[in-house]
Amino acid sequence: MLVFAHRGSSGVAPENTLSAFSLALADKVDGIELDVQVIEGVAMVIHNNWLQGTTTGMGRLDQVSLDYCLTLDAGDGQKIPSLEQVLKLVAGQCLVNIEIKAHNAEEVVVAVAKKAVNEFGFKAEQLIISSFNLPALKRVGELAPEFPLGALTANIPLDYAAFAEQVQAKTIHLNRDFITPEFVDDSHKRGLKVYVYTVNYVEDIQLMLEMGVDGIFTDYPNRALDYLSSV
Ligand code: G3P
Ligand code: CA
Repeated sequence: MLVFAHRGSSGVAPENTLSAFSLALADKVDGIELDVQVIEGVAMVIHNNWLQGTTTGMGRLDQVSLDYCLTLDAGDGQKIPSLEQVLKLVAGQCLVNIEIKAHNAEEVVVAVAKKAVNEFGFKAEQLIISSFNLPALKRVGELAPEFPLGALTANIPLDYAAFAEQVQAKTIHLNRDFITPEFVDDSHKRGLKVYVYTVNYVEDIQLMLEMGVDGIFTDYPNRALDYLSSV
């Protein structure tokens, strides 16, 4: 079962910052997960499309300048990183799940992902692009079929195989609250791998392992890796 550091090692460092991703790398995670929003045409790593809560700034991302965003503190003196900065830091050392949060982010994300393959030491199969926005994923697949796609869903679609097949997704990413053994088994029969978010407690990690889940997103990768190495 793969362990992805959700927004980096966000249980112990400010989420979606270079320090959270550095800690995840030090923990030897299988992968990191991050969220992309677009600010003035640049793919930036931040979960919400507003600044308050995770930074010292205020305002919606479509109403603020990139220069302003770059002055802000995203926690412990960290800045909001660009996708390019994070991929340069990771440099092919682990998988990266790039979650597209923004509208119209497909082109800019694909351009940075291609650059990461050409210049930062990644193989295309290490860069999983996911989104709740299926049309956006479909567009990514058209622009760059080399990157694996992850279909994100907060619940179980009635026909989830069709749901994932629409965008040719390799993985389906499901909320922990909805996962069942039947869902995992049936997804596997249909050739889909199952990744689950957000799995922070040892009891849940154990449960995911028993169900045959293929990957988890966790705020505490250290905890998950310690548990997995002990069983
Ligand atoms: O990618 C899985 C998970 O991160 C999706 O939910 O809100 O944490 O981005 P959220
Ligand atoms: Ca996410």
